[in-house]
Amino acid sequence: MDVIASTAFSLQLDSYNDPKNKFVECANNAFSPSFNIKNTFHQLFPKLAKLIGVQVITYEPLHYFKEVILNIMEQRRKLGETRNDFLEFLMTTVKEDAKEQKGNERNDKNGIKSNYGQNESTHQVNKNIPSKYLDLNTAVAQSVQFFIAGFDTISAAISNVAYLLALHPEIQKRTYEEIRDVLQKTEGELSYDALQEMNYLDSVLCETLRLYPAFARLDRRAESNCQLGDSGIVVPKGMNIIIPVYAMQRDPKLFPDPEKFDPDRLFI
Ligand code: HEM
Repeated sequence: MDVIASTAFSLQLDSYNDPKNKFVECANNAFSPSFNIKNTFHQLFPKLAKLIGVQVITYEPLHYFKEVILNIMEQRRKLGETRNDFLEFLMTTVKEDAKEQKGNERNDKNGIKSNYGQNESTHQVNKNIPSKYLDLNTAVAQSVQFFIAGFDTISAAISNVAYLLALHPEIQKRTYEEIRDVLQKTEGELSYDALQEMNYLDSVLCETLRLYPAFARLDRRAESNCQLGDSGIVVPKGMNIIIPVYAMQRDPKLFPDPEKFDPDRLFI
């Protein structure tokens, strides 16, 4: 969480030693306790879920993050600060898009919304036609998504790797030895290139994600009628397709003895 907060917003957190920090607490509470049930409901009955307001991410943390992000943007604008982070990248895009789009609202009052030439009601007049321009609301939403998508996936993956390595000391030893050998060659420098040489570690991570994928299922909506090879199946435009990731990754036809943690099955 600390790494993502720093990459996304240049925020310095110490979530391990300061778990009561509001930002940290909100991040930990972002996913509602019944996330999986609600997410499945959304996938199966998207219109109904929207109609009755089923929230997969709980409202309070979402609102808090939005406020924090708007405040950071406002502060950077006031102080004329720039940072090398995800938020800065989005802010620049919003600004450039706003200039290109109209360039006439920037002389309004001060404030983040007028500064970026946008307000919450000026975009997506027709929600069925996605705009090619990035608007402020979407930029804030993307930042929140980047943060939430980034920290929970990684922490779950690392926890699962640690758990599986603890259960399989022989695999743990081999992983350790590979890391040690590569770092001996690079004299301890853990660079991107050094990581590329850790092929067994890569297999360990992939095999862990096979058993415990970040998302049990994914979904996509067909943008046009789509013929699936020569199967005779046509997916009509507008149909939602659910990809059963968890089931596929534990299918014995695709992965023999699927419950077994065996990084060698993916080791090249
Ligand atoms: C072990 C680590 C991770 C796993 C297993 C993982 C997995 C995934 C998967 C499966 C999706 C696709 C969801 C879909 O298509 O419906 C996704 C999307 C995404 N992930 Fe990750 N992710 C990881 C780490 C991260 C990190 C570190 C970040 C950001 C710092 C991140 C940001 C995102 C974003 C922004 C999306 C949405 C992309 C889009 O909608 O176009 N993820 N991730």
